This record gives sequence, C-alpha cells and structure tokens, in this order.
Amino acid sequence: MGSTLRIAIVSANILLALFIFQNGFLLKRQEISAKSSCADAHAQPGETCWMSQQYNRTILILVDALRYDFLIPLDNPKNSESPEWFYQGQMKEVGKLIKSGKASIGTLLADPPTTTLQRLKALTTGTLPTFIDAGDNFSPDAAVNEDSFIYQAAQLGKNVTLFGDDTWLSLFPNKFSKSAAYDSFDINDLNSVDDKIAPKIEEEVKYSESSSIIIAHFLGVDHCGHKFGPSHPVMADTLRKMDRIISKTIESMKPTDLLIVIGDHGMTSTGDHGGESDNEIRAGILVHSKKHEIQLPKTPMHQIDIVPTISLLMGLPIPFSNLGTVIVEMFQRDLWEMAVGMNYEQVKRFAETYATQKNFGELHSHTARDSNTMEEQIKTMSRIQTLLRVAWTQFDDAYINVGLFSLIEAVLFLMTNEEMSVGWIIYRTGCALLQAALLTDKTDSDGSARTMILMALAVSCLSSTISLAHRALRISLNSIVSARVIGKNA
Ligand SMILES: *[C@@H]1O[C@H](CO)[C@@H](O)[C@H](O)[C@H]1NC(C)=O
Ligand SMILES: *[C@@H]1O[C@H](CO)[C@@H](O)[C@H](O)[C@H]1NC(C)=O
Ligand SMILES: [Zn+2]
Repeated sequence: MGSTLRIAIVSANILLALFIFQNGFLLKRQEISAKSSCADAHAQPGETCWMSQQYNRTILILVDALRYDFLIPLDNPKNSESPEWFYQGQMKEVGKLIKSGKASIGTLLADPPTTTLQRLKALTTGTLPTFIDAGDNFSPDAAVNEDSFIYQAAQLGKNVTLFGDDTWLSLFPNKFSKSAAYDSFDINDLNSVDDKIAPKIEEEVKYSESSSIIIAHFLGVDHCGHKFGPSHPVMADTLRKMDRIISKTIESMKPTDLLIVIGDHGMTSTGDHGGESDNEIRAGILVHSKKHEIQLPKTPMHQIDIVPTISLLMGLPIPFSNLGTVIVEMFQRDLWEMAVGMNYEQVKRFAETYATQKNFGELHSHTARDSNTMEEQIKTMSRIQTLLRVAWTQFDDAYINVGLFSLIEAVLFLMTNEEMSVGWIIYRTGCALLQAALLTDKTDSDGSARTMILMALAVSCLSSTISLAHRALRISLNSIVSARVIGKNA
C-alpha cells in the first residue's frame, strides 16, 4: 500500500516535470481565425476598401533559398578560384539594373525555423511560427486558416495566379484562379519545375491581364544548395538562369506592374537551412517598377513586412494577424502616414484580440495608449512585434530549468528509499499541484509559481542529500564495525 502510493505520487511528479521541461522548447503562438474586412479601416476618400490600389499587378517571384548576397552586384569580380565566385556577382543583368537605379535590393530577415513551409505562411499571413508548425513541414493537410493577402484578394474578387511548387495549393485550396503547380519533393531534380514555369510566367506577364497577383516559386537554387552547396559550378549556372528569368520578366512588364523578387530564407556554406544562423535568416529582396523609382532601405527589413506592403499597394485589407510593418519606401511619399496609420490600427486590433482571447495581459500595456505620429506608431508596432517574438519563438529557460530541477529532485527522492510519511505525502502532492499550476497558467507573469517550486525543490533536494549521506555514512560505519568484529573473531 505504502509503496504503491509512493510510486503513484512520484510518477506524477516526474511526468509533470517532463511536461514542464518540454514546454520550454515549444513555440507558443496560438492562431486567431478572424479575418480583416474593408470596414475595419477608415478608407481613403473615394475608396470602398482601405487604400486605393497603387499597381494593376504585383508579380511576386519567390526564389527559394535566395540569400541576400546572391543579388549584390560586384564592382570587382571575385577571383574564380574563390568559393564565393560561384554565387556572388553571378546575376549580371540584375546587377546592371541595380547600378542604373532601375531596381533596388535589400535584406529580409526571416524568423526561424527557416524551412520553406513556415516561410510561405509568414510571407502570406505576416505571422510568426506556431507550435504545430515545427513538425509538419510535409503534412498534406496544411491549409492556412489564418488571414492572408491571398485570402483577401480572392475575397475581393481579384485573381491570383500561381506557378511553381504544389505546396501552395495545399496551403490555399481553391484560392488561385489559375495555377500550374508541380511536385517538388525530388531535390535531385534541379531544373524540371523551374523550366516548366519559366515560359508560363513570361507569357502571363506579357499577354494576360486577368490576374492582380502573380506568384512564381522557383526551386532550383534551393535544390542546388542541398545537393552541391553554394560553392559549385551548378550554383553559378542556376543563378545565371534566374538572372535571365528576372530580366526577361522586367522586359515584359507593363508600366503599371510591380515586381518583387524575394528569397524565403538563405543557406549555410554547405547549402542547408532550417536554423537561425545569419546566412540562413538573411534572404534577398529586389523590387522594380517603371511607374515609380523605389529605393529600399539599407537596413534589414523583416520578411513579414512584405505582407502589409503588398496588401495596401494592391488595395486589400492587411491580414488580421499580421505583425509586419509596411515598407514605406515602396509607397509614394504622400501615402506614408496613411499606410503606417492603417497598419498600426490593424496590429493594435490584433494585439487587443490576442490579449483578450488568449489571456496575454502583457500586450495591454502597449495597446492602451494611442500613438498619433507616424514615428510613434512604428515604434509601438515594433515593441508589440518584439514582445511577441520573444514570447512565442524563443525557448523558455525558466521552464527548462524548473523541469530539469524537478526531475533531479524526484530521482534523488527515489534513491533515498525513505518511508512515505504523512509529511512527505503532503509535500509531494503540493509539489504536483504547483507543477500543474505552472503548466496551466503559462504566463505566470510575476514568476511566483516558479519561485515557490524552486524553493520547495531545493529543500527536498537538501533533505534527500542529507538522508543519502547519512545512509552512506551508516553503511561505511557498519562495515568498519563488522570488519573489526570479524578481525577480532579471527
Ligand atoms: C490598369 O488598371 C486601370 C484601372 O483598372 C485600367 O484603366 C488600365 O488600363 C490598366 N493599365 C494597364 C496598363 O493595364
Ligand atoms: C479573373 O479571371 C477570369 C478568367 O481567368 C476572368 O474572366 C475575370 O475577368 C478575371 N477577373 C478580374 C477581376 O480580372
Ligand atoms: Zn525554401
């Protein structure tokens, strides 16, 4: 009876400790399914939805794993013996456009994990990774439930065309008015998808007017990275091919079109990605329009900043859960205040909803006060983004430590093999309750549950250690005594 109770209670402690430990490693964002609508913002005069459409079409070319430095033109070509030669300065046509001011480039910072599926979601919804995301890169039922600019475009009757990877079709079922999508699992197959979609995008840009947003996702650079790494002649060939595709698209574009070329993430020196090293999170961006000359900021932007920017430029509501900040440099100067204002109201609306629905009180301190100037609004958005990025995507050391400490304590207690006294039963049940409280009240904002557990654990560890030391001493004393007795008898 006593030993069953002992095992039951200690097992509960150990299980809870494991849960707490694991909790420290989870991404904690929960999805909000609400969608933005035209009525959410005070529309620009004469408009029925937020801001008037600035371009007839946005052409979004996604070059998988296009690291920021692949786009940078070189004044002095690299020595062909150097490892960088294969991927730096290979995009010569793009380089000419940048030098003549017709195109502008910048750096986009992707949030880890830098895997394609997570990045596609971020690039369309403006959100950070959710905890169910990490494991389901290849899950077939991955439809995006949150608001996105693709959902908004379809909702407002604007056509979206997709060329490329069929992951997009499972993410956004029935949202594309036209698509040519291919299976992309075979990373040994470097070119077949790209070769199929390259003529299609050229034809669409040149001859069709029915789509407002055209998305083309090229995979060759990513597949070449996985197979050969960036420092390989095949990489140079693949980048030159992308260079031709981009310059041909620019030739075919109408004066009212906007081109955005982006990488979803970068790659390491061995061609891998997924982690959070500089080379993995720094992706490239290039923009071009014949209507306005755009000069992107020199400082890195966040990948999710693309989402409110495309939404407002295309006359769409910004997706409800977006945390990105508009890239004002892509708007005409007289629209900056309005774009930031609409973005700010949207982020605030999301933060208030999240704080209330998901019990995240810390957000209220940022949404309670009104920011009125553009600078203040940008600062507030950035504070909200930072707070949530830390809360959602970083490992929680406090949980990891409490989990580990609880495990050590339970194991030490088991080793003492002590009788389960009433005092111990009360102590261990109390511990289990505190552990459960820590698991259910995830915010534990003042840290009181954690402090109490840590104190209780410390007392118990000390007691177990004393008891173990005491027993060790008794055993060694006994053996000395018995050795003496044997010695005497001999
Ligand atoms: C752009 O859209 C406007 C209004 O929808 C239309 O009148 C114009 O012809 C379009 N321009 C081009 C070049 O497609
Ligand atoms: C969307 O595409 C269809 C057919 O592809 C076309 O009939 C329709 O006019 C397009 N809608 C817009 C808003 O251009
Ligand atoms: Zn990718």
